[in-house]
Amino acid sequence: MRTLIKRALISNGPMDSITIKGWVRTRRNAKEFSFLEINDGSCLANIQCIADAGIPGYEDAARMTTGAAVGITGKLIESPGKGQQWEIHASHIELIGEAPADYPLQKKGHSPEFLRSISHLRPRANLYGATFRMRSRMAQAVHRFFDQRDFTYVHTPIITDSDCEGAGEMFRVTTLDPTSPEKQRFENDFFEKPTYLTVSGQLEGEAFATALSNIYTFGPTFRAENSNTTRHASEFWMIEPEMAFCDLEGDMDIAEEFTQYLVRDTLEHNDGDLDIFARFVDKGLIDRLEFVADKPFQRVSYTEAVEILEKSGKKFDYPVEWGVNLQSEHERFLTEEHFNSPVTVYNYPKSVKPFYMRTNEADNQGRETVTAMDVLVPGIGEIIGGAQREERIDILKANMAAHQLSEKDYRWYLDLRKYGTCPHAGFGMGFERMLMFVTGMKNIRDVIPFSRTPGSCDF
Ligand code: 4AD
Ligand code: MG
Repeated sequence: MRTLIKRALISNGPMDSITIKGWVRTRRNAKEFSFLEINDGSCLANIQCIADAGIPGYEDAARMTTGAAVGITGKLIESPGKGQQWEIHASHIELIGEAPADYPLQKKGHSPEFLRSISHLRPRANLYGATFRMRSRMAQAVHRFFDQRDFTYVHTPIITDSDCEGAGEMFRVTTLDPTSPEKQRFENDFFEKPTYLTVSGQLEGEAFATALSNIYTFGPTFRAENSNTTRHASEFWMIEPEMAFCDLEGDMDIAEEFTQYLVRDTLEHNDGDLDIFARFVDKGLIDRLEFVADKPFQRVSYTEAVEILEKSGKKFDYPVEWGVNLQSEHERFLTEEHFNSPVTVYNYPKSVKPFYMRTNEADNQGRETVTAMDVLVPGIGEIIGGAQREERIDILKANMAAHQLSEKDYRWYLDLRKYGTCPHAGFGMGFERMLMFVTGMKNIRDVIPFSRTPGSCDF
């Protein structure tokens, strides 16, 4: 029976016989014995093993180089050395799979760019093993948060015929043959019409919220936007709750509570993985997370935010005036410099937002806004975008017309307003953006196992 190293290291006492399996991180040879540091990815820490010369398998010790797969059987004993409580005194070692001398992860200190080029081996590097364990834990925490609040998990489709965000950033899904022009007609295509990878499960989520009350989706999302930034991926994961009988205020409450829950969960349940980020990635990480977990978020309307930006006297690449969409430099000024805290900005100009958001009454200057909200956090900017939805069918139809959307294509979506319409609201959180926030990792490519970005789809 194999024991995971994570379990061995928290043993309550010594053990007469234990078997661990994993990959060699380092090996030091002395005359009469070898020291092996083994990692199996169950936790950040290695377990140290001492193998005396002459034990079964020792003839292969020289080939147990960094990266080799090995099995070690022996006694779990209290470690005299510093830094670990337990170590293994081996009675039998086995070379399971060699790693020749060209194994790329010999030493620490590789650049993130190089490690991306070996994304298939990257999880064996400490920082990335920790990142992907954090990712797994945060995914579990997402489900826990919603389950505890009676939300139903809904699987919305990945292939769709609608552009939820209306930004036209969609990947086409087709079986048409690009080399045969006569076959390139949509009626000959697999679904007999244009179809795409989803940019958001929201519209389908609304159908379920207006039946099951509180729902959420959590799945892959695709955007063909050509923005080569550290915060945009072509394939990412999004969490989208949708709540019936909920307004903008309630939406912001849940978005903020959810963000704080994930931060607190990370602080409380990280099996020591957080240390490596605090040590090597972002010295202020733990303080920042504790601050966010406890302090209420700032809330400002878009109009107030624009006033703050205008008064700041700062020179932005994109000048600010009422009516423009906030750019990442503006978002980061608000959250990092002005408020120095997470900020929720709400009620954006109608002209910069999608068709489905609820129209507010015009302000005293006749300016029209919609019930949009974005949650911004220091270091990242936007991690959540959401809104109260337009539940009034006439206004929704007018918005669709203004966005050149045909009622025929969205008949099912209009039905949600025709039959038992109700106020409802929801939001989308970028899972990788949240993961960047809790780890301090600077590039979205480094928190997703195999990243897809413009010009890059390897593995
Ligand atoms: O603000 P967005 O575009 O909102 C929606 O898609 C709504 N339909 C959500 C809803 O109300 N149900 O995207 C939501 C979040 C963003 O705040 C951001 O965190 C993340 O998704 N996101 C991306 N993450 C990584 N790469 C990209 N290209 C992203 N685009 C959006
Ligand atoms: Mg957005």
